[in-house]
Amino acid sequence: MTDTLHLDKRQRAMLAEMGVRVWTPLSEPVVMAAPEPAVVQAPADEGYRFAAASELATQAIAQAAGYEQVARQMPPTAPAVKAAPVPIIQRPAGIDQMDWSTLHATVSSCQACTLCSTRQNTVFGVGANAAEGEMPQVDWLIVGEAPGEEEDQQGEPFVGQAGKLLDNMLGAMALSRTGKRTAEGGGVYIANMLKCRTPGNRNPKPEEVAQCLPYLERQVALLQPKMILAMGRFAVQALLRDTVPEVEGTPLGKLRGRVHQYQNVPVVVTYHPAYVLRNLPEKAKVWADLCLAMAHLKGAE
Ligand code: URA
Repeated sequence: MTDTLHLDKRQRAMLAEMGVRVWTPLSEPVVMAAPEPAVVQAPADEGYRFAAASELATQAIAQAAGYEQVARQMPPTAPAVKAAPVPIIQRPAGIDQMDWSTLHATVSSCQACTLCSTRQNTVFGVGANAAEGEMPQVDWLIVGEAPGEEEDQQGEPFVGQAGKLLDNMLGAMALSRTGKRTAEGGGVYIANMLKCRTPGNRNPKPEEVAQCLPYLERQVALLQPKMILAMGRFAVQALLRDTVPEVEGTPLGKLRGRVHQYQNVPVVVTYHPAYVLRNLPEKAKVWADLCLAMAHLKGAE
């Protein structure tokens, strides 16, 4: 279990890039320095209040290190923001039979919602190098929300500032966006819940999510990842809508610190890198979430 926390020089450098400090007591497993035990209020549009900064980090790391679970007391939460009900999902014909390249082509020509008229490119995803049209073999699926301006221009997810942070996070886990799965595991695919940019990066509309979700669903069914990392409120709500009652009214902070399921694949919830860039102390919590995911994967082997 503790193997996941044996960080090499490169991983430590990546963590330093992320702004997460670690310390290594002699002959003890690596434990992240406890962040300030302050209660941090999220901006209003996030709709939730965070737990004490040190608390969930400590818990996930304790679990990752194989320690007993630390008892947790959540501080009172702000009233949850209720999202609009999500319309019935429209499944594109034949999607359940599509292979990877057919699915990719279908997404590229999708006109199921109005986003097709404002996008430059669809953004299907990126991952472990595979031959043209072949599906990458991966253990990890990272799910973000929707392409931003740069992603829309380049047709690749997470290529802007948030993507740099994501790359550093992956580096700290000894993973990379194009690294192949080896005998030790690994291999990452990065996708978004929405395959098209929303105008001005506005929040996705329920009908856009409903139209696009079947594509992600099929990506999961084909990739069969061993772990999904859901980043940000909209990705989390889309993935957990069938398994977490009232997920749309549940603060993201309350969904962290445990392992959920989507299509029988474990899901760990964390903050979106773009949000973390605006709230740098939250990096420690994201690292705690990554430790939880790594520990779960290791335990499942
Ligand atoms: N944010 C996302 O959620 N996805 C991207 O691809 C880029 C930014």
